Amino acid sequence: MLHITGALSLDGNPIELTLPSQQSSELHAEGLTIFPGLIDPHVHFRTPGMEHKEDWHTAARAAICGGYTTVLDMPNTIPPTVTAELLQEKKALIHQQLAEANIPLHYELYFGADKKHLQEIHRVWHDVIGVKVFMGCSTGNLVIDDDESLHQVFKMAAELNLLVAVHAEDEAMIRKRQVKFSQTKKYSDHSIIRHEAVAATAVLKAIQLAREYKTRLYILHVSTIDELALIQSAKAEGLTVYAETTPHHLFLHEGAYVDLQGKAVVNPPLRHHKHHQALWDAIHDGTIDTIGSDHAPHLESEKARVYGECPSGMPGIETTLPLLLTAYHAGTISLQRIVELTCTRVRDIFKLEPNHDYVLVDLRKTKVVNNDELQTKCKWSAFAGRKLIGWPVYTIISGQIFDLAY
Ligand code: DOR
Ligand code: ZN
Repeated sequence: MLHITGALSLDGNPIELTLPSQQSSELHAEGLTIFPGLIDPHVHFRTPGMEHKEDWHTAARAAICGGYTTVLDMPNTIPPTVTAELLQEKKALIHQQLAEANIPLHYELYFGADKKHLQEIHRVWHDVIGVKVFMGCSTGNLVIDDDESLHQVFKMAAELNLLVAVHAEDEAMIRKRQVKFSQTKKYSDHSIIRHEAVAATAVLKAIQLAREYKTRLYILHVSTIDELALIQSAKAEGLTVYAETTPHHLFLHEGAYVDLQGKAVVNPPLRHHKHHQALWDAIHDGTIDTIGSDHAPHLESEKARVYGECPSGMPGIETTLPLLLTAYHAGTISLQRIVELTCTRVRDIFKLEPNHDYVLVDLRKTKVVNNDELQTKCKWSAFAGRKLIGWPVYTIISGQIFDLAY
């Protein structure tokens, strides 16, 4: 048994916990606030094929340092996770890497919808957390950009009661604007090429499909006012539509290109800061259900390439909770709502089993984000230099204590 003493509940009341554990031990957690182990519904941990950017040793370490004990990993690897065999191979690699890292991180995998392998969904549905549909191209070449395949995926998923998670950006609109901007070397043009209507058009289409087939739909990385309006009315209509936003869409805006250059390039892109208030309002009124880090590491050298060759995405799993806790100190959000967005609501949507994972947080710990201290293999953060208040100190997975000692 593991006995935790001296900790505080989210309300600030003293709380003692006894958890099942291999060894018998006591953890003195004086003054630390106890959160459930967080669940990140959206990560790209890069195995297989892109282990130069990240692997499950470094990513698992990054996850626990961020307070996360469960992650849902995306299929845009090399090769992409689009067949039952590739799914099993990926699982075996992850299993091995986590065993070597000695971190019993909980994880689930998304399956990639791919035109040539749609029938594979029938072979894997019981073994995956959902089907990921890239309606527009992003990192890798997974994309479903024709209506016939989209209808097939939504129909098949509904029949299997499988959740469809969409990267909602309209591929035809992106291509058109890429032609117009083919000569640009300006990183900030990324937000113009993949502008707001690119996202709203795809969200509208995804909602129509969910309505037609009664598919459970999860809309990833919502970033604009118009998407929120569509989601709000879909929910009001009674459709099973869930929405996620990301820390970078909440805490960065398109002004960030000036300092961050290629590091600010992400899909969907950073937006005008007018969207921030709408995202926060949507967090408070329940239009937004979850926050996913969309942890998408690329090397600094890759992000330094000119626009057009610079890959999209940024790491995030280590800074999401401290960013949210800093927002809590600013009076923007309650601790209870943070836990719903990063744990309980995610558990409900994805029907995950309850566990005995916890994270002990020092709500007053103040630390400046420092690239050298990050565990992610890419070793940089778009939030480097920011002073954040509230950091995890211990993470407990299945009775195993990880002292995050900074
Ligand atoms: O910016 C992004 N990066 N958006 C995505 O959809 C994919 C991700 C990645 O895998 O790098
Ligand atoms: Zn992603």
